[in-house]
This record gives sequence, structure tokens and C-alpha cells, in this order.
Amino acid sequence: MALLELENITKRFGGLVAVNDVSLQIEAGELIGIVGPNGSGKTTLYNVISGVYSPEEGRVIFQGKDITNLPPYRRAPLGIGRTFQIPRPFKSASVRENVAIGAMFGTLSGKVSVDESLEIADHYIELVGLQAYKDKAAGTLTPTEKKLMEIARALAMKPKLLLMDEAMAGMHPSDIDNMVKFIKKVGVEENIAIVSMVEHIMRAMVGFAQRIIVMHRGAKLVDAPTAEALSDPKVIDVYLGRPSGD
Ligand SMILES: Nc1ncnc2c1ncn2[C@@H]1O[C@H](COP(=O)(O)OP(=O)(O)OP(=O)(O)O)[C@@H](O)[C@H]1O
Ligand SMILES: [Mg+2]
Repeated sequence: MALLELENITKRFGGLVAVNDVSLQIEAGELIGIVGPNGSGKTTLYNVISGVYSPEEGRVIFQGKDITNLPPYRRAPLGIGRTFQIPRPFKSASVRENVAIGAMFGTLSGKVSVDESLEIADHYIELVGLQAYKDKAAGTLTPTEKKLMEIARALAMKPKLLLMDEAMAGMHPSDIDNMVKFIKKVGVEENIAIVSMVEHIMRAMVGFAQRIIVMHRGAKLVDAPTAEALSDPKVIDVYLGRPSGD
């Protein structure tokens, strides 16, 4: 049984089809890269998987259970974690408290005390290298530090599936390389299936992903092992061929 199965998902906003008849499967522990131009439906797909939106058509199956209409707060305890393209931390709470919230509302929800959540938070804060900031108010962090805090919070959820939405945007390329290696290591060690957008940095994507999904105008254009996806002419047209600032 797949960890996650999307069956013919369509999500519209008025007349706009943001996700168009997308089906896909994700197995436990898989490392997947998702790419596609701006507006191609990546974030909307994440929102359908995490429960921010219910699709107009199709089903979301997680570990064999139909979760199509469950709200996000009921999906997180099942093991669906994510980072947000635009982090919205609790600004006046400390970094440590923000990360501990992940532990409290993830798969350990109801199973850990506040103190245990804070210990879990400390572990992941140290792993992402934010230990010097852990007692600072989250609102005082730089955008890059906020992204690192998001990653720590998502990992503290102890997810089975982690959706990373531009979690490393704005970081220096060498920092992205290191972060990608770190996330891959955590994913392998903790058997987390990870879907990540590595923000137009192909080298990092190739180092991370076993499989690449290419989105184009809401549809899934390619879904193949990394080497095969990269040599697909459709990907070269849509992804490598388009103008880019990198
Ligand atoms: N809440 C919304 N209301 C209306 N339209 C939306 C909404 N969210 C997304 N869209 C539209 O749906 C389409 C897909 O957007 P989405 O944010 O999923 O793309 P994306 O691939 O994540 O893009 P980017 O690379 O810029 O983050 C776009 O045309 C976008 O304008
Ligand atoms: Mg997006």
C-alpha cells in the first residue's frame, strides 16, 4: 500500500484550474523533488494534500484511509507535515516554543507533555543550527532563520510525509547544498517520505531526489526517476528551457 495516493485531483479557483486531474503515489521514505514554473500548481497540490483545500474532484488517500475532506489539524496527527512558502510563525513566542508546537500537533499529539515537546524542539533546533536563537522571539529572526525554524518545526511533527514548500528559498547556494544533505539524511534515518521544491537549484535537486515530478499548468507533466526525468525533453522545455535568474 502506498503511503499517499492522489486519485484524479482537480482543484479550481473560480474558472481557474489550479490542479488538473493529478494522480500520484508516494511510498514510505521516498525522496521526491517537485518542480514547475510559477503558478503551475505546486503549492495548491501541497494544500490539497495537507488539507488546506478540499479538491472539487478526486480523492486523497493516506495509509489506505480516505482523508479528502479532513481538515489540516486532523491530518497532521496522521503524519502529514509541511513547511510554508511564506512562514507565519507565532512572532512573539520563542523559537523553541514555535518548534515545540510542531511536536504537540504532529504524530506525537496527545502523547507528549509540554516539557517533552520542548526537548524534541531543542533536538531539531540544534540540528538546523539555530541553538543560539532558541530563546529569541520568532519575529526577530531573519527570513532565512525563519525558514530554518520552519524546517525544525516540521521535523518536530515527526511526520511520515513531509511537504517542503520552498523551504530553502533565499538561502545561499552553499547553505542550500548543506541543508539538502541534512534533510536527506533525516528523511532516510527517520523513514520520512519528503516532497521538496529545491528552488530552481538543479544540482541540489539531483542530489536529493530519487524521483522528480514536473508540474505544468496544473497538470503532472512528468513523474519519473530523477535521471530519466532530467533527460525528458518535456522537462527541458518547461523547466530548463525557461528564463531563470539562477
Ligand atoms: N487561493 C487562491 N485563490 C485564487 N487563485 C489561486 C489561489 N491559490 C493559487 N491560485 C492560483 O492557482 C494557480 C496555481 O498556483 P500555485 O500557488 O499552486 O502555483 P505554484 O506552482 O506554487 O507557483 P510558485 O512557484 O509561484 O509558488 C495560479 O494561477 C494561482 O494564481
Ligand atoms: Mg508555490
